[in-house]
Amino acid sequence: MRQEGNPAATVYESLGPNFFLALDPGWLNLGLWEGPGTLEEAPRAVRRLVETLAQDLPRGGVILDVGNGLGAQDPLIARIARPRRLVALNITESQLRAGRSRLGEAGALPVVGDAMRLPIRSETVDGVISVEAAFHFRSRRIFFEEVVRVLRPGGVLTMSDVSVERPPPGLLEGLAGLAQLRLWGLRAKNLSSAERIADLARRAGLVDVRVERCGDRVIDPALAAVALRLRAAGEVPTGQRLAARFFLAQVRTLRRREMIDYVLLRARRATARAA
Ligand SMILES: C[S@@+](CC[C@H](N)C(=O)[O-])C[C@H]1O[C@@H](n2cnc3c(N)ncnc32)[C@H](O)[C@@H]1O
Repeated sequence: MRQEGNPAATVYESLGPNFFLALDPGWLNLGLWEGPGTLEEAPRAVRRLVETLAQDLPRGGVILDVGNGLGAQDPLIARIARPRRLVALNITESQLRAGRSRLGEAGALPVVGDAMRLPIRSETVDGVISVEAAFHFRSRRIFFEEVVRVLRPGGVLTMSDVSVERPPPGLLEGLAGLAQLRLWGLRAKNLSSAERIADLARRAGLVDVRVERCGDRVIDPALAAVALRLRAAGEVPTGQRLAARFFLAQVRTLRRREMIDYVLLRARRATARAA
């Protein structure tokens, strides 16, 4: 697997296993919050997001976690879904290495691979979970087609994603959007609204597609908590702190202009193919 060819792998290689803005060590998601975004709630919020998604997985089956980050989520997924086999797939090999003990705790099989070409046999998986990774994928259409291919009939997909709901209304927002694309190695072509993401899932053959927009319970409190974390990060070099502050201001602009949102998506593969 050539990681250099994948911008997401390059981004996560450079963030390393100790990203100073992570809401809890080892966790890279934005959390699902009940409050306005405090450092006290942060460890609960990152777990609540994974718990909420994992609740939809079938119990006792083969589960595939696509884009598993540093593996912190896998013991939690294992506790909830009690899989007979858990596969943790990630394009960033160093993250799988850094998460080795957590993957061991989860009894998960680490696999270096690309969501665009799942190295999994057709119709062998009961549930796919993907937490906050699909906005990195080259194409959500291909991802959903791959999910349909690997799921057994009746199998479940549960995932979260970042959506882009409208084009930038002005130059400032356009520049903020471009900077974010560059920072995270994202493709402009792949930006999609929540509605379009659901449509792509249906076109790929998934049924019972349910999409919930919840940026107010994810992105907004996460921004508040990350700002607090930044204020407390006196040991981090000034250049990094300034860059992070600039980054936060840009994301705040994109949210204020209602350009970006956060999406929870649940769907399943039909039990039998339509005749
Ligand atoms: C924002 S992180 C989320 C990590 C983890 N799910 C969490 O919430 O803590 C995105 C993850 O997706 C992985 N990723 C990005 N593109 C990928 C791809 N094409 N195939 C597999 N994994 C990918 C990255 O390496 C990273 O681990």
